[in-house]
Amino acid sequence: MKQTDAENSRELLNEQVVYYRTIAEEYESLALPFPGDAELTAALDAFRPTGSVLELACGPGRWTAQLLRHSEDVTAVDASPEMIALASARVGPGRVRFVSADLFSWRPDRRYDVVVFGFWLSHVPPGRFASFWELVADCLEPGGRVFFADDAYRTADELIEGARSTTIRRRSSDGADHRIVKVPYEPADLERRLAGLGWRISVHPTSGPFFWGSGSRAAG
Ligand SMILES: C[S@@+](CC[C@H](N)C(=O)[O-])C[C@H]1O[C@@H](n2cnc3c(N)ncnc32)[C@H](O)[C@@H]1O
Repeated sequence: MKQTDAENSRELLNEQVVYYRTIAEEYESLALPFPGDAELTAALDAFRPTGSVLELACGPGRWTAQLLRHSEDVTAVDASPEMIALASARVGPGRVRFVSADLFSWRPDRRYDVVVFGFWLSHVPPGRFASFWELVADCLEPGGRVFFADDAYRTADELIEGARSTTIRRRSSDGADHRIVKVPYEPADLERRLAGLGWRISVHPTSGPFFWGSGSRAAG
């Protein structure tokens, strides 16, 4: 997939944040009506995110609540204060350290046993893929583990710059158009790319359009 400067630009990333801030309240009603969601939940439970857990792009806290069932403590980062308010209300006071920050400039102040991100990787521009995974490595204790879930679902009317572009359009209920990043990863290819960056991560499709991955840095 050919990348352009525009596909990695700060302007596009800012637009993406504005989109999620705008739709925070309706986000969960926009969930994809496909099978596979329960498989992701089961996969995360089987992974057992124990110890100190960092969640990137937590959104309204769908995963945060599940993480609390396994972890000792959870830190959750998101650029949208609206999303964080929803997540905080969902999990209750004092149970999670929420950080409102842009993941393309944020740096961790400590390391974690586990890093989790749901439906975030596909919103990382291709030109920032490697630096994002460097950030994940910097967040992890030696031997730390990663779990992620995502989908490659894009509708024809979202593809305003064509199927080869990773920039798509989403429309909020106020009628405004927003450009966001949506990279349509294919599980086996994603697994290979991660191996090339020094990760040993298995990526599993589900019965729907979702997939999940888990693993850690490759030994050595
Ligand atoms: C597709 S939602 C995923 C939310 C949640 N993880 C889930 O699975 O439901 C993407 C999330 O990324 C957040 N986000 C977008 N751009 C961001 C950025 N630059 N830094 C941090 N969070 C960002 C949005 O606010 C939104 O909550």
